[in-house]
Amino acid sequence: AEKKMWGGRFRQATAALVEEYTQSVSFDRALYAQDIAGSKAHARMLAKQGVLTADEAARIVEGLDMVLAEIEGGTFVWRRELEDVHMNIESRLTELVGDVGKKLHTGRSRNDQVALDFRLFVSDRIRAWRGLARDLVGVLAERAGEHANTLLPGCTHMQPAQPVSLGHHLLAYAWMLRRDAERLSDCDRRARVCPLGAAALAGTTYPLDPAYVAEQLDMYGTFRNSMDAVSDRDFVLESLFCGATIMAHLSRLCEEIIIWANPAFGFVRLPDAYATGSSIMPQKKNPDVAEIMRGKTGRVYGALTAMLTTVKGLPMTYNRDMQEDKEPFLDCDRTVSASLEIMAGMLRELGFNEGRMRAALRAGFLNATELADYLVGKGIPFREAHHLTGAAVALAEERSITLEELPLADLQAICDRIGDDVYAVLDPAAAVARREMPGGTGPASVAAQLAELADWLEE
Ligand code: ARG
Repeated sequence: AEKKMWGGRFRQATAALVEEYTQSVSFDRALYAQDIAGSKAHARMLAKQGVLTADEAARIVEGLDMVLAEIEGGTFVWRRELEDVHMNIESRLTELVGDVGKKLHTGRSRNDQVALDFRLFVSDRIRAWRGLARDLVGVLAERAGEHANTLLPGCTHMQPAQPVSLGHHLLAYAWMLRRDAERLSDCDRRARVCPLGAAALAGTTYPLDPAYVAEQLDMYGTFRNSMDAVSDRDFVLESLFCGATIMAHLSRLCEEIIIWANPAFGFVRLPDAYATGSSIMPQKKNPDVAEIMRGKTGRVYGALTAMLTTVKGLPMTYNRDMQEDKEPFLDCDRTVSASLEIMAGMLRELGFNEGRMRAALRAGFLNATELADYLVGKGIPFREAHHLTGAAVALAEERSITLEELPLADLQAICDRIGDDVYAVLDPAAAVARREMPGGTGPASVAAQLAELADWLEE
């Protein structure tokens, strides 16, 4: 019992299984940099407030820098019996600088300490995700710019609907990822708020200056209620939700890449560096990267669900259950960071088969809406135009031809207002070019979207 920092009132040593069961250092050591930065800020604040002398704080800060160097140099010995990253670092600090190290924890509890460390960690990571999301928006915009005039069938219900440009289709994902980046910034404003000074739960009697700690750590502000400060894990929930939404978007794109890579579509050629083969079927080139990304989406959803479940029954204030917040986030971070980076790399090199996309425009009567709109232009009410067009589609389908392959006489038999100006209207490129309203698939609308995204990328 004597080796525990909290061991004063204990007579028996912790059971070995309990020690292993309750320790978190095996995973929360990931927070070492934030823990040390937080402790340095705390020590400096204690000196500024006269709780420590300037010399004491300087020796603590110096010792913490030595600990940091040991950790980053790989010589630091992590000890499970010291439970967590906080105790490991404080214990080594005291070994290095002597008794003054024991003054660091004045006016502080591990409850506000871990909240601070994890808020800084989550903030640092979601800022990294934001950068990766921006990079991906950049790649999507670049590829979209190359394909403002490449047409493919736009689908609803996974059925051919209306022709769109590939540029427009890719930009749909750019806008999703841009929202993700903005969501992360918004999340960061609430995550990067300083809980230090809340102490165990009730605040402290020392004359602390939480705002000074927040300022040193480049945080947006300080806690308003000490009980909330030590028990709030909204920032974990929000960041996991942001991660889950990013994965949802990536997974949808993966699904399209998987479908498009099937030779029945043949819209894309996977880059060799982002595909794998089969051990038995020599011809195979599989979209495993996209499949794994789609699959990993589930574990990020799992992390969000796990965290929601962890917090749902917790009374005020800190409860040890909250230690379960780290692993889901760390797992989510690995998945989200890698997925964003890999998707950017894969998209940069993805080959688009424009010929196969063009050929696909022949199936599914993608220009039926054009014919209906043409009839409206000839003075026919839309509902009636819809019905007449349906008859033309049925006739073409019966003959296994496209609408534009129907002879004028047959079209005129359906509606005598149809003239031979109809054929220009039925051209898919013309259908796309007519949709120039803001946000439409027309080339000028796509160019305007690209310009807006370029401005944002430069910010
Ligand atoms: N490892 C703990 C966690 O992650 C640190 C806080 C422990 N606090 C306590 N009172 N036992 O939550």
